[in-house]
Amino acid sequence: MGQALAGAFLEAGHRTTVWNRTAAKIDPFVARGAIRAEAAGSAFAASPLAVVCLRDDAAVHATLASTPPTGGALVNLTSSSPAQARSRRNGRLRRASATSTAQS
Ligand SMILES: NC(=O)c1ccc[n+]([C@@H]2O[C@H](COP(=O)([O-])OP(=O)(O)OC[C@H]3O[C@@H](n4cnc5c(N)ncnc54)[C@H](OP(=O)(O)O)[C@@H]3O)[C@@H](O)[C@H]2O)c1
Repeated sequence: MGQALAGAFLEAGHRTTVWNRTAAKIDPFVARGAIRAEAAGSAFAASPLAVVCLRDDAAVHATLASTPPTGGALVNLTSSSPAQARSRRNGRLRRASATSTAQS
């Protein structure tokens, strides 16, 4: 699904940064003009809009846990429950708030 999404963004002519846990899978997209991110956090920081589509909520948690909130929009297309989506949103807000407090 993530590959189809990346392909659609490229097809539409959007500047697209790609990251995948198994890095070799993004090679075809880099060959088509996508920018390779070496880490998930770099991909989030590269754009005001980040689209996430991973296997399940646990994979999203594992990926987002190591990335600081960037202030950009995060669209999560991974299949998950409403409770998981709310928990993810609240966790990001708490971390963004903690980051902001630490900087002030
Ligand atoms: N395919 C569809 O038509 C479709 C339709 C509606 C909804 N969805 C939903 O979209 C989501 C993705 O579906 P898919 O068919 O694209 O699945 P998929 O082909 O199995 O791809 C799963 C992706 O998740 C990554 N991933 C898995 N565990 C991870 C972890 N612990 N940390 C980081 N990355 C991890 C995989 O990375 P690696 O490449 O490194 O394994 C891969 O990029 C699912 O939630 C599915 O229910 C899919």
